[in-house]
Amino acid sequence: MSIIDDLKAIEAEAHEGIFGAGDLANLDKIRVAVTGKKGSLTGVLRQMGKLSPQERPQVGKLANEVRNRVEAALEQRRHELEHAALEARIAADSVDVTLPGRVPTVGSEHLISQIIEEMEQIFCGMGYTVEDGPYVETSYNNFTALNAPLDHPSRSARDTFYVVDNNPGSLDYSEVHANGESDILLRTQTSGVQIRTMLKQKPPIYMIAPGTVFRPDTPDACHLPQFNQIEGLVVDEGITFGDLKGTLDYFIREMFGKDRATRYRPHFFPFTEPSCEVDVSCGVCHGEGCRFCKGTGWLEILGCGMVDPNVLDNCGVDHEKYTGFAFGIGAERVAALRYNLPDLRMLMTGDERFLKQF
Ligand code: DAH
Repeated sequence: MSIIDDLKAIEAEAHEGIFGAGDLANLDKIRVAVTGKKGSLTGVLRQMGKLSPQERPQVGKLANEVRNRVEAALEQRRHELEHAALEARIAADSVDVTLPGRVPTVGSEHLISQIIEEMEQIFCGMGYTVEDGPYVETSYNNFTALNAPLDHPSRSARDTFYVVDNNPGSLDYSEVHANGESDILLRTQTSGVQIRTMLKQKPPIYMIAPGTVFRPDTPDACHLPQFNQIEGLVVDEGITFGDLKGTLDYFIREMFGKDRATRYRPHFFPFTEPSCEVDVSCGVCHGEGCRFCKGTGWLEILGCGMVDPNVLDNCGVDHEKYTGFAFGIGAERVAALRYNLPDLRMLMTGDERFLKQF
């Protein structure tokens, strides 16, 4: 009986294929080839109509059994393959939960940012505002308006980074030509923010302006080509040198400690008259004299003075009505004095072993 032989042959072949299938895609191909619409088993079942009524029950029974067994085998193999695939995925993705975790390194604020923030706190506590100016400044704001004439040595190309504007008009420095000057440069001091502030705001002015400045200096223990200053400016009616001294003494004691003494030495700055440099007593030897203060007992920390009337005139401020004082402090210097740092270059290295200490 050929149909019965066919059924047996189909079953044997299906069985071999099913259990030989290495993955689910192959198994599905076999399922389609055997039990699909055009599958071999389906084809045989279609021929049932040709059988005689006596043969039909016997062959029909066998056909059903074969179909059930093939479907059960397909199901069993599908389970096996799915299980194997899952096992393989688990093995590949395995995470060893007993390993110690990786702790992310958390950054911290740089010492210089901390110092600037602390100075902002001290001056904001006295009612000062915090102003800002651009790194690329006009020579007018950086020098001329600050009473530093064209022949001032700090304007020489050896002392100042001039910027070549290859694309004239691309920088919006409408004040570049204010007095016929057209130079732009990396600012050498934050003092230009004094000019910017007085031009945009009427007195009373009580402001500080922290920011980066640039000079063509070779870095050494006490110099950096790029560092940060905090500028200060007060313009109001009746401001005297007593206000300057009271303000800076208060600031220095807040910053360095109540036990520190100050000393005001006459000096020269083009934009202040009179001008001084201020020293603070050495924190290492308390004024006795040591290596840190080069035996003097004092450490220089800032420049200051009464705003020169010419500067007020340049900004349209009536110098008969208003007076003022100004000061400039190096943030790196404050950090060095406060933490007795032997070399300013440490602040530029980004060495975490150093930076993490603050
Ligand atoms: N701009 C000065 C410098 O870079 C520091 C300075 C001195 C600023 C005296 C001032 C000041 O405002 O009054 O050396």
